Amino acid sequence: MLTTRQQHCLNGIGIRVWQTRPSAATKAEGFVAIAELQTPIIESLPSQTQAPIIAQPAVQATELKRYELNDWPQLEQAIQDCHNCELAKSCNRKVPGKGSKQADLMIIGEAPGHDEDLQGIPFVGRAGQLLNKILLAIQLDPESVYITNILKCRPPNNRDPHTDEVQACSQFLDAQIKLIQPKVILSVGRISAQNLLKDHSPLGKLRTKNHLLPGKNLPMLVTYHPAYLLRNPAEKAKVWHDMKALHKLLNDAQSHAEH
Ligand code: URA
Repeated sequence: MLTTRQQHCLNGIGIRVWQTRPSAATKAEGFVAIAELQTPIIESLPSQTQAPIIAQPAVQATELKRYELNDWPQLEQAIQDCHNCELAKSCNRKVPGKGSKQADLMIIGEAPGHDEDLQGIPFVGRAGQLLNKILLAIQLDPESVYITNILKCRPPNNRDPHTDEVQACSQFLDAQIKLIQPKVILSVGRISAQNLLKDHSPLGKLRTKNHLLPGKNLPMLVTYHPAYLLRNPAEKAKVWHDMKALHKLLNDAQSHAEH
């Protein structure tokens, strides 16, 4: 830590002292964005034996901003401003979610792919088109559901999400679930299912059960990812089975809510 006098001296020669990054504990309490954190954190003055600091141009002071994640506009802004993991640097666009914010069904995929990254909208590529057809097959209008992903940024070359990335993004998914309060969750694909259920069983085992989303007590089903179905069309029969189970679960939950 610098003394006030040292800070004053550094400011005087055009070096801004950055705030330290929020600790994991601070982050867990609520999202804190550090806007435009581009330069290294300067924590101490160099000793006389070290090379002198070359004065850097003053940069915009770090802005610590708090977001109320229980409010849609602020939640969406928090996602846009997020720099909590490395993916924010490599993605083209953040991909918060699409569909009805009053949806009874929430669908959770893995992460944006190439097309989603360019458009900022989830499931717009070939997998998304197949997902729409699957929903229509059980008389669900794709616009009546809410669709999002575990990650809001595309991992480079569509690699699997890293644990720290899932952790950094989880506050947004939690907030989306709280705001929407869906009656049922459909998790598509292994990465989504294993992360939501915190269970590393193979997808083939997870998809045949009625789950409750841990910590939320929400009914949840698991099925294959539509991108997997594009590569393995023979598995579509299993998805049809899952969709019939989804249709029933949703109808039961809706009629339960009416009584
Ligand atoms: N795959 C996903 O899991 N999500 C998307 O948004 C697109 C493809």
